[in-house]
Amino acid sequence: MPSREQVHNFAAGPSPLPTTVLEEASQGLLNYQDTGMGLCELSHRGKEFKAVIEGAEANLRQLLSIPDNYSVLFSQGGGTGQFSAVVLNLLSAHRLANPVPAEQFTPPPIDYVLTGSWSSKAYAESQRLVQPTFPNAPAFAAPRIAASSKASGWTRLPKRDEYNFSEDAAFVYYCENETINGIEFPSASNSSSDSAFPFDLVPDGVNIVADYSSSFISRKIPHIEKHAIIYAGAQKNLGPSGVTVLIIRNDLLVDTTAASKLFCVPPVPITYEYKILADNKSLYNTPPTFPIYVSALVLKHLLVEKGGLEGLEQTNKAKAELLYDTLDQAEQAGKVKCVVREKDARSWMNVTFTIEGGDDKEKAFLDGAEKRGFKQLKGHRSVGGIRASIYNAVTLESVKALCEYIQAFAKEN
Ligand SMILES: Cc1ncc(COP(=O)(O)O)c(C=O)c1O
Repeated sequence: MPSREQVHNFAAGPSPLPTTVLEEASQGLLNYQDTGMGLCELSHRGKEFKAVIEGAEANLRQLLSIPDNYSVLFSQGGGTGQFSAVVLNLLSAHRLANPVPAEQFTPPPIDYVLTGSWSSKAYAESQRLVQPTFPNAPAFAAPRIAASSKASGWTRLPKRDEYNFSEDAAFVYYCENETINGIEFPSASNSSSDSAFPFDLVPDGVNIVADYSSSFISRKIPHIEKHAIIYAGAQKNLGPSGVTVLIIRNDLLVDTTAASKLFCVPPVPITYEYKILADNKSLYNTPPTFPIYVSALVLKHLLVEKGGLEGLEQTNKAKAELLYDTLDQAEQAGKVKCVVREKDARSWMNVTFTIEGGDDKEKAFLDGAEKRGFKQLKGHRSVGGIRASIYNAVTLESVKALCEYIQAFAKEN
């Protein structure tokens, strides 16, 4: 039976967490801060958990330099829950900002930027939610594609001249890092790239929503202040599955019941209303206390042990560069092929490639990897191939070891 030290875990999510954090969490699970009770056995309204959730928020604010006019919320339902919640809440916000009589109300467009499977799923959910509830009634909104790189098989990002934003959209939506194909918008330090998200092309006043599920706290968020909402399922860089973090501009914390009284908006389930969550400091109903606790420990660890966001960014850049350089060399030798063809669209978190020579060679690669302790390298079931996810808790040493294996495999095959 291998120990944690003998394994290099490249899982796409849920993914590895720092060992020291898990050790502290296991202690807290049994006896939290000498209370004689485990963290999961304490009330979410008690002083202990209050300190946990408030500490998590404060550390996240510091780590990401979140502006004061944004709220930080801990929600449930995963990234997929937010595909729905952003539509419902932002259509209410749009309706309240346009309080004309129902007969004069025009359902707004919603602009989606499609760069892979997750943004496509978010778009599909939006289309589903805006369906009229009666025959001949108008749809609640008109989701549309403002840009898409589907024609490339999700191997590149749209370029600036391929975007076509509406003037009056309820919001613009994009996914910062597409976990399955391994496509990510260029980093803040590469913001002049033609593939960078074109914030300046979005018409003034239009809200921008970003899914950061698989790139959260891996590096600086370009133009955090230009976003209306940034959200992330926790189970990659932050903590265990079960908690979703939202960074939301305060003017979007709207009363969705008041919006529904104006008609023309879909109803919002109470636990998905951002204002309810914010008014109750993420404790409207029982939150997932253990995932929040572990996330709080991870945030402290990232600030204290890992040099904050700057330190994380440097290490993550070094890991990604090393792995892509190794793959590019193996590709030149005809042994592997990187999925994402444009270098500035390559994800720092999810590195995708295929093994040349067919299924047998891929199996040989994966079998050899397994024997050497490289785990969970198989690509997503919808696309196959290989995916090495190198989130914050994956060390540079693990990436170096994987690179050595890729080099040895390329030599021997
Ligand atoms: C970028 C992205 N968005 C959304 C999701 C969906 O998240 P969940 O499974 O938490 O609903 C995932 C899941 O991996 C993801 O990677």
